[in-house]
Amino acid sequence: MDLTQAIASRRDTRHFTDEKVPEAVLNRALNAALHGPSVGLSQPCRFIDISSSCRQTLLETFSGKRLAAEDEIDDLDRLKLHRSLKLESLADAPTLLAIFCAYPQDEYTIGIIGNHRALEWSCACSIQNLWLTLTAEGYGAGWVTIFDMNMLAEKLDVPMHWEPMGILCIGKPATDYDRKPMLEQLGWRQRDLNLHQFYSSACIPGTKPDQSVL
Ligand SMILES: Cc1cc2nc3c(=O)[nH]c(=O)nc-3n(C[C@H](O)[C@H](O)[C@H](O)COP(=O)(O)O)c2cc1C
Repeated sequence: MDLTQAIASRRDTRHFTDEKVPEAVLNRALNAALHGPSVGLSQPCRFIDISSSCRQTLLETFSGKRLAAEDEIDDLDRLKLHRSLKLESLADAPTLLAIFCAYPQDEYTIGIIGNHRALEWSCACSIQNLWLTLTAEGYGAGWVTIFDMNMLAEKLDVPMHWEPMGILCIGKPATDYDRKPMLEQLGWRQRDLNLHQFYSSACIPGTKPDQSVL
């Protein structure tokens, strides 16, 4: 699979077979994560394999957060649809990785003066490398952020300067969701692939930017 195919076929996967993820595949994906760009070469992304711990507690806090989110949905049909969506595979994914952003403690880091978020963006770059590599190898991942992140940090007793980024649920996909995001396949939201909605050329001095991207 070439890069363009991997990018197009990568899915947020919530349905897995029970096939184990070979250690060699996981290692290659983690190595790809290490090759990601990072602000000031800080390499802040940390991964902890939690496949054999925390699952029950994670699920409980997921349910609490999910219920709270439903208070924000007024429309009854949308609420019904929302309730039917599988938004995690914390119990059934063969491998679970907890992901953290380790904020540099003492040393000066190029690029984060006044903007520490660049460290989190660096983690996102690592995660995307990992995700694409899994896809190219015939595996998949689902990024879960609906749970109590502080509980996870406490439970794993990670250093105070590690900020949770979420959980990656990893395994062999049981479906390709008709080659669309699952939320699109099930009618929650349509993906927009019209480049003109997202890109415009630089504005000429004295003129206004293209309104379509504002
Ligand atoms: C930072 C981040 C957090 C996400 N958190 C969740 C989540 O908690 N539960 C979930 O079902 N999907 C989650 N997703 C997946 C998105 O819903 C998904 O990427 C989007 O619907 C597009 O689908 P695709 O990734 O298959 O293209 C998350 C994605 C990102 C990038």
